[in-house]
Amino acid sequence: MKSFCIGNLEVKLPIIQGGMGVGVSLSGLASAVANEGGIGVISCAGLGLIYNKCPGDYLNKCISGLKEEIQKAKEKSKGIIGVNIMVALTNYADMVKTSIAEKVDILFVGAGLPFDLPSYLTPESTTKLVPIVSSPRAAKIICDKWKNNYDYLPDAIVVEGPKAGGHLGFKVNQLEDEQYSLEQLVPEVVSIANSYKAEKDIPVIAAGGISSGKDMFRFIEMGASGIQMGTMFVTTTECDASHTFKTVFVNARQEDIKIIQSPVGMPGRAIDGEFIRSVEKGLEKPKSCPFHCIKTCDYTKSPYCIVQCLYQAARGNMKKGYAFTGINVHLSEKISTVKEVIANLKAEFLTAKLEGGI
Ligand SMILES: Cc1cc2nc3c(=O)[nH]c(=O)nc-3n(C[C@H](O)[C@H](O)[C@H](O)COP(=O)(O)O)c2cc1C
Repeated sequence: MKSFCIGNLEVKLPIIQGGMGVGVSLSGLASAVANEGGIGVISCAGLGLIYNKCPGDYLNKCISGLKEEIQKAKEKSKGIIGVNIMVALTNYADMVKTSIAEKVDILFVGAGLPFDLPSYLTPESTTKLVPIVSSPRAAKIICDKWKNNYDYLPDAIVVEGPKAGGHLGFKVNQLEDEQYSLEQLVPEVVSIANSYKAEKDIPVIAAGGISSGKDMFRFIEMGASGIQMGTMFVTTTECDASHTFKTVFVNARQEDIKIIQSPVGMPGRAIDGEFIRSVEKGLEKPKSCPFHCIKTCDYTKSPYCIVQCLYQAARGNMKKGYAFTGINVHLSEKISTVKEVIANLKAEFLTAKLEGGI
């Protein structure tokens, strides 16, 4: 596998661990992936629930939690550490500012278009800015807006296809349409990135449903510099979620996957279970909302509280939440270490390369 560069950062192993909230990818998983030469990513979603003993209100707890997770990850690894931030979060700006002040290496920003992201950079900051998009159009709009408004181009672009876990940047009827497949999107986004080549090298990272070294090889052959994976890292010892949550992944079959409509206003892919059935019966309506964590969420109209749901699931309380997942969860057969997962990917990649005659 070839290394690639994001600005002056050399990514020795072209594997990015996707940010996973709430509390699924924190400093434990992120540092383990970074130690293998990939990029480890802390999810900042719902940190105020995890750091509920910190002083202040939910928003202050989120800031303290993020600072602590970045520091812990840096203590455990000298590798590249990123933070994943959703534009849809009410405290998006706080999370961006805190990450930059804590000198995190990279920000991965999705679930909305981060038009103002470069405005948070300070003259001394070295943090790289990477938008997550689901279409070539979004990639182009972000590049042009950033260029025109801030004279800045993205340091890399993640293109996330319809087979990913978590919130999906597609309409439900597009999820199975070949026109929107990752295979279709990667070359299109690479071509947009290449159109700025005279000004900046913008590596493209492919994400969504990638679960083997063979898949990695395929997308790298299509022009991606690296790949991002979420689901395959959930069933690792280092993943920060509970053992119960990981077991749900190990036991999940293909037919257990369900597309849900999230209160964030986007569809999401999740593992079906008791909580989803209870939501469908209208039994999970929030009585109050102490957080207001999502800009567009009005708790009086919401069928359930998404941040509580994801937090409870990650803790193992599956009666009160569900697990987001990518389409290939059925391939997670056991809990293993990050080192083992990566060693397998490397071996499969090599086989694919040899079969490809390269
Ligand atoms: C449990 C889980 C939680 C996730 N949470 C987030 C999140 O908070 N923010 C985000 O941008 N993406 C999130 N994702 C998407 C991942 O970062 C990743 O891009 C995606 O899962 C890639 O597809 P894969 O899981 O098939 O590898 C989540 C995915 C999973 C499985």
